[in-house]
Amino acid sequence: MVLTDMVMPRMSGLEFLEQAKRAYPRIEVAVMTGHGSVETAVQAMKLGAYDYIAKPFAPLDDLRLFLRRMADKVRLVEENLYLRERSETETSLHGIIGNSTGIQNVLRLISRLKDTRTPVLISGESGTGKELVARALHFRGTMASRPFVAVDCGSLVPTLIESELFGYEKGAFTGALRSKQGLLQSADTGTIFFDEVGELPLEMQAKLLRFLQEKEVRPVGSNLKVKVDVRIMAATNRDLDAEYQKGTFRKDLYFRLNVVTISLPPLRERRSDIPILAAFFLERLAPGRAVQLSGSAMKALLAYDWPGNVRELENCLERAVALGDQSIIEVNDLPNAIARAEVQAEPSAAQEFSGRDLRATDLEDIERATIARVFSQVNGDKALAGKMLGISRATLYRKLKRYHIGAREEPPESTTLQ
Ligand SMILES: Nc1ncnc2c1ncn2[C@@H]1O[C@H](COP(=O)(O)OP(=O)(O)OP(=O)(O)O)[C@@H](O)[C@H]1O
Ligand SMILES: [Mg+2]
Repeated sequence: MVLTDMVMPRMSGLEFLEQAKRAYPRIEVAVMTGHGSVETAVQAMKLGAYDYIAKPFAPLDDLRLFLRRMADKVRLVEENLYLRERSETETSLHGIIGNSTGIQNVLRLISRLKDTRTPVLISGESGTGKELVARALHFRGTMASRPFVAVDCGSLVPTLIESELFGYEKGAFTGALRSKQGLLQSADTGTIFFDEVGELPLEMQAKLLRFLQEKEVRPVGSNLKVKVDVRIMAATNRDLDAEYQKGTFRKDLYFRLNVVTISLPPLRERRSDIPILAAFFLERLAPGRAVQLSGSAMKALLAYDWPGNVRELENCLERAVALGDQSIIEVNDLPNAIARAEVQAEPSAAQEFSGRDLRATDLEDIERATIARVFSQVNGDKALAGKMLGISRATLYRKLKRYHIGAREEPPESTTLQ
């Protein structure tokens, strides 16, 4: 907030106003005017001043009131901006894309669990969307405005985990210059998410278990316990079931965390999600540019095994968008390993003839199912369907015909006018 005079040595109030607005677009500037210079005040308002106040201020309370009103407006604008940004990032961050039964089951579980405090264990290979699911569980629920604290158990330094989680008192150890609240306490009333929980050292597992039983934290170096109420979520890409049997993960902790499991299937087991995921990422990576995948590029994506799952798909498209300069992504814009998948999936003439190439038929089934689903989702809008599927309109027409999709909605071919 700026309150400026109009008549000043090196620069007029109007010039100042313009420069300040240019440098700090969200600044609010109010101007003080001398006796009777209403025209300049009006000019200032036109240039974006908040308001003007006439000098001299008698009583001074007028000025106080004026500034308070201005402060209220500034705060309101900031708050609106914050809320808008927040809801935008939240919808884009927590949008879980996919029509496969695997993903639909996950979405159903999320809506059933989002308003509860039930502990949830999310399991799945790297890049399958575990963190996305954890955030959706928290931010789609009625407790969304409460804190969500994510703890990456894999990257915490083992010796610091305890003080990070439970906090510490000033002087608890060398370097503890002031006391600090732990992550558990910062998540109070909300959710704490232990990412890669399988990486927690056994000793910390014991401490975490005790916390879950007692619901109290005692900061390092303190003898006071603090009640903390958090919902616990955990994610793992390891097979904790096998690990507790081997003794590398505490069985009792495993059962506490694993009240409900959400298992995310690897992408290669839900290839039918690839086209919509690809369309979603392309729109996010190059908004409004309608970037599409060539038929063979899409085939390669459908055939590849995706060890890095959705994250790998996202990275691969990001690279293709950055490298390719046109609006179509071709096979050679894809990394070699993925491009090769297309060659392998291409049936040789002999195989096609024998009709026993399982891989190619699988792909066709997937393709047919995907096109049919997208086509019905967009109510037969071919332009939109092509865009969502990442194929050209001509290719879409060919495929619709080949798979007899949408035939009933179309006039019979013989009556089509040229
Ligand atoms: N179904 C989906 N819809 C949209 N985006 C997804 C989906 N699944 C994953 N993603 C995206 O893929 C990326 C990886 O997801 P996320 O970080 O949640 O995976 P992760 O299972 O936690 O992986 P890691 O084990 O590597 O930590 C993110 O950018 C996420 O937004
Ligand atoms: Mg993760």
